[in-house]
Amino acid sequence: MINIALPKGRLGEKAYKIFKSLGYGCPEIEEDNRKLIFTNEENGVCYFWAKPSDVAVYVERGAADIGIVGKDILLEQGSDVYELLDLGMGKCRMAVAGIKGCRPSSDSTIRVATKFPNIARSYYASQSRDIEIIKLNGSIEIAPLLNLSDVIVDIVETGTTLRENNLEPFEDIVDISARLIANKASYKFKYEKINDICEKIRNIKE
Ligand code: PRP
Repeated sequence: MINIALPKGRLGEKAYKIFKSLGYGCPEIEEDNRKLIFTNEENGVCYFWAKPSDVAVYVERGAADIGIVGKDILLEQGSDVYELLDLGMGKCRMAVAGIKGCRPSSDSTIRVATKFPNIARSYYASQSRDIEIIKLNGSIEIAPLLNLSDVIVDIVETGTTLRENNLEPFEDIVDISARLIANKASYKFKYEKINDICEKIRNIKE
């Protein structure tokens, strides 16, 4: 049996469709219900829906053998897992943004609002710039508008949220996409099956 952690939401649903197309379907997961764990004994898979930011925790601790997770979460959490594949889905970027035309000067401490304090800290450390982190949990874009922060470090996908709030990207930090990750011990002990999944995904991507 292989345990697969899927992120609840659109990305997880897309990922499940890929697994299904590889022969790892699980009819129960397609039913309209609110169950969270689904097993298909026939092909030896067990899926569960996890909060996207928790997927790497399940995988790192071995509760899941493999999982699908955004690179943003891997970078932020510094998860000790194997990153097997870039699935090329859920593409976006991590960027510094702020009010249009109000780029803060680099000689003062910059107030940075973000859901990703570790990514923000290491980005600014690499630039030797002093910052103060203001940790928020969502709707980050309003922070500079209300003068809670000078900039934000956040995900930009289409750029619509920034544009519609009179904000603009100042600097790109890193490209983000969904990754297939594996627990390190599982990768060793369930190598055949995990490798089979990996190879098959690689083939359909080519
Ligand atoms: C994310 C991100 C931005 C938005 C970017 O927010 O934090 O707010 O999407 O997308 P866009 O460039 O296509 O406009 P999410 O929907 O995850 O909500 P939250 O961070 O506010 O909780």
